[in-house]
Amino acid sequence: MQEQLIQRAITVLENNFQKGGFTIPSKGLYPFQWKWDSGFIALGFAHYNMKRAKKEIETLLDAQWENGFIPHIIFHTDSDTYFPGPDFHQSSLHPQASKKVRSTGMTQPPVFGFILQKLYEIAEDKEDILKFIRTHIDKVYDNHVYFYENRDINDEGLVYIYHNWESGTDNSPMWDDIWETMNPPEYTFERRDTSHVDPAQRPSKREYDHYLYIIDIAKKYLYDDTKIAEHSPFLVQDPLFNAILIKSNSALIQLYKVLGGNEDKLSYLNEQQIKSKKTLNDKLYNDELGAYVHYDLRKNMQIPYISSSSFSPLFSGAPDKEKAERLVNTMMTKFGDEDRYLCASFDPTHERFDPRKYWRGPVWINLNWMLYNGLKNYGYQEIADRVKNDSLQLIEKYGFFEYFDSRKSNPDSENSGYGGDNFSWSAALLIDFLKEKT
Ligand code: GLC
Repeated sequence: MQEQLIQRAITVLENNFQKGGFTIPSKGLYPFQWKWDSGFIALGFAHYNMKRAKKEIETLLDAQWENGFIPHIIFHTDSDTYFPGPDFHQSSLHPQASKKVRSTGMTQPPVFGFILQKLYEIAEDKEDILKFIRTHIDKVYDNHVYFYENRDINDEGLVYIYHNWESGTDNSPMWDDIWETMNPPEYTFERRDTSHVDPAQRPSKREYDHYLYIIDIAKKYLYDDTKIAEHSPFLVQDPLFNAILIKSNSALIQLYKVLGGNEDKLSYLNEQQIKSKKTLNDKLYNDELGAYVHYDLRKNMQIPYISSSSFSPLFSGAPDKEKAERLVNTMMTKFGDEDRYLCASFDPTHERFDPRKYWRGPVWINLNWMLYNGLKNYGYQEIADRVKNDSLQLIEKYGFFEYFDSRKSNPDSENSGYGGDNFSWSAALLIDFLKEKT
């Protein structure tokens, strides 16, 4: 049974692999290379085709800008199934943008540190993988330096995102209060996503107006980080983004130690890491809620809602035992009902929760993968196993979807798998779940 599932997952990945040496998240809906998708996809490949895993990472890192920035979408090819494409983003406005490939001018969570470490653990030929890591690790390091030097405006170890697409959790209810502070123009454009997926499962047209408007502001300032920090109506410190940065810092530190030398980089990373962990705990933890929350840098206040991102610091290792215990309690009290799959992307007890709509309630496999590993590292094996088994069950029952209804009995539909089908990271992370050495 497990072998069959793995074979099906491999077929998904093979079908999404492109001649240019990268893998698309899902045919039609997402026809390019996405930053954090690529990391998870490489992890899936690593279990059966290390050469392919290396290629995925190499292609992604090759799109890095001169200032260390790595974009969220790399437009290797033309496609008319996606909007907004390269002509809208115009990333070449930035003087240090890649001259080789077109891309967006925004980024996504920095997963490559911990992905390189996973590859090192999985690889049978350690010498070969170390050679690969030695060649590429500095690019990942430069990406971290880019974040700390350009997006940590208070020099406190937390980096900002200026667009909801940078978070990876595109239409989270978290952003609703920010949209209320804005009044973007009504854009005229042809949505492409809703020709692939039921509109009930995607963001609204008005939400898209906000998304496009922030990009227009960034373009007006030629994607200059300092100016964006001054003028973007959206400026947020995201617990998920920063938890991933911290996890990847730890991974880079460990890998540089294995490689030897690199004292200057080690001390830079160690210094940032101490600050990042401290401020994540001081500024993003909400004691009343018993969870980490987002921080709105425009209003200078926490955004007091709980989402699956609230628990992601478990993955980073930053919470102490007491905070970890509170987090797990909050998760189980609010998200852990027996009639729900773990882990909904937004607080099921909140009025903004919607079990069908994208990041407003459905279960996502990449968040589950991070939560599983975090829970396991803190010794919550039973709950970790529930997260893993729920993920496997959802895929086995419904297929390799992008996201899943978080209700176990779903009155709306027979199929609780939503969004893109044959979705790459659902396949890749299923492989990692099933190949785990316990
Ligand atoms: C959606 C997701 C984002 C992902 C992208 C490609 O935009 O919200 O996290 O990277 O699709 O799969």
